[in-house]
Amino acid sequence: MRVAVFGGAGQVGHALARVAARRGIALTVFDRAHADVTDIGAVAAALAHARATVAINAAAYTAVDKAESDAERAEAVNRNGAGHVAAAAQALDIPLIHISTDYVFDGTKQEAYVEDDAIAPLGVYGRTKADGETEVRKAHPRALIARTAWVYGLEGANFVKTMLRLGSERECLRVVNDQRGNPTFADDLAEALLTIAVRPEPGTYHLAGQGQTTWYNFAKAIFAAKGHGPRIDPITTADYPTPARRPANSVLDCSKAKRTFAVELPPWNDGLSRMLHAHLGPR
Ligand SMILES: NC(=O)c1ccc[n+]([C@@H]2O[C@H](COP(=O)([O-])OP(=O)(O)OC[C@H]3O[C@@H](n4cnc5c(N)ncnc54)[C@H](OP(=O)(O)O)[C@@H]3O)[C@@H](O)[C@H]2O)c1
Repeated sequence: MRVAVFGGAGQVGHALARVAARRGIALTVFDRAHADVTDIGAVAAALAHARATVAINAAAYTAVDKAESDAERAEAVNRNGAGHVAAAAQALDIPLIHISTDYVFDGTKQEAYVEDDAIAPLGVYGRTKADGETEVRKAHPRALIARTAWVYGLEGANFVKTMLRLGSERECLRVVNDQRGNPTFADDLAEALLTIAVRPEPGTYHLAGQGQTTWYNFAKAIFAAKGHGPRIDPITTADYPTPARRPANSVLDCSKAKRTFAVELPPWNDGLSRMLHAHLGPR
């Protein structure tokens, strides 16, 4: 297996490279400078250069709030770019794993979302990612779409690092307690993706940290694991207006991936303690 990854400089791209190195898997990462997914020629050349036998698209415009006023760029990457990677993989007749998001759902369901639930994104990011799924299915009928959620990795910016920074600057943090999801450590997602990459069964799958929580309880768990932190007060979404609307419930049911691939991510708080251990050192 030779894996080519687009979006290699992102959280998941870095995690894929680290896990592949540990597992002895041949993997080439392409960052935007080496393969801009909005340029189909660059994508095709990268896949050929890597002599890839499987492609993973981890490239995305992920700035959820900024996307609201930057829809054109979000569309170029999340919709058109996804289609380009799919078309290039299809042309070479190699499997594709495309990463998508829990934000394709509107959050009105009470239970966890399954793969066949109707999508109804609330914002530009979610809409462009949903359009990306459509483009991928059109261009590469055997593609595997892996929806994940609330990703935090060792590299890049994310909720965990933001909390740690704000926690060292302030005595009290106010954190939203009426949005539920599955925090997902990027390295755990990468482990699952590389297992699946050996024999990707076409279709859509949910892959996220086991269990669910709110941002407020996630924040409390971060400081509990760290050993100390600021006071944290729960607030509502209405108390913290943002340009993009977010789903109140985007919890993903991941049982299809477990049934199909025998792959299950560890519990989210287990991923969190390993991430903090690697990020902050032993405590
Ligand atoms: N982060 C989350 O909470 C979350 C949740 C659910 C799903 N996901 C999905 O998971 C996947 C990986 O996300 P992530 O957390 O690793 O995000 P990330 O850290 O923002 O990484 C995305 C990467 O894509 C790159 N990129 C942007 N435009 C590109 C282009 N035109 N050509 C090539 N690369 C480009 C970015 O490069 P630049 O830095 O140069 O822009 C960045 O390195 C994405 O599909 C995302 O939608 C993420």
